[in-house]
Amino acid sequence: MTDLQEPVSTEVLRDVCGRWATGVAVVTGRDTDGSPLGMAVNSFTSLSLTPPLILFCPGLSSSTWPGIRATGRFAVNILGAEQAALAGAFARSGGPKFDGVELDSLPDGLPALRGAIARLVCDIEEIHPGGDHEIVVGRVTHTVQDERPPLLFYRGRTSPMTSS
Ligand SMILES: Cc1cc2nc3c(=O)[nH]c(=O)nc-3n(C[C@H](O)[C@H](O)[C@H](O)COP(=O)(O)O)c2cc1C
Repeated sequence: MTDLQEPVSTEVLRDVCGRWATGVAVVTGRDTDGSPLGMAVNSFTSLSLTPPLILFCPGLSSSTWPGIRATGRFAVNILGAEQAALAGAFARSGGPKFDGVELDSLPDGLPALRGAIARLVCDIEEIHPGGDHEIVVGRVTHTVQDERPPLLFYRGRTSPMTSS
């Protein structure tokens, strides 16, 4: 362990929190005009089994989230081990993020990233303030999953999970 760091700077907090390994998901939805929206997140986590709730935390500076928020629905697409390029594409702010991205056509109408290892479709249940982010609680209406390994995120880098 290094010396105690106090007060905690933005850089130190990012570095310390980066030691928490996560998966990577892309939250997708539709703008009020129907166009597809998406952003990469690693703040996704399960919250409650009964009722079925998950959460994730979009930043207040996100240009994507307000459009999804206005429609009240979103999908969490959990990325597979081979989808690092998609994580990068959906981490860029603005621009045509969906160019060249393969989508599955599903009855719920929300963008479904082909090759994702799991998908949770949610209605927005609650939104709480969280500093420079919001805490979005989603009620899961349906899910899809398969057995392939996930993409991982650790200390600012993505890497494929190599064994399962
Ligand atoms: C692995 C990874 C995880 C991320 N997790 C989050 C997150 O949980 N919340 C968030 O607001 N941004 C997160 N970001 C950054 C957003 O993806 C990025 O700021 C967003 O796509 C900006 O685009 P927008 O302005 O079009 O919304 C993450 C980026 C990466 C690469």
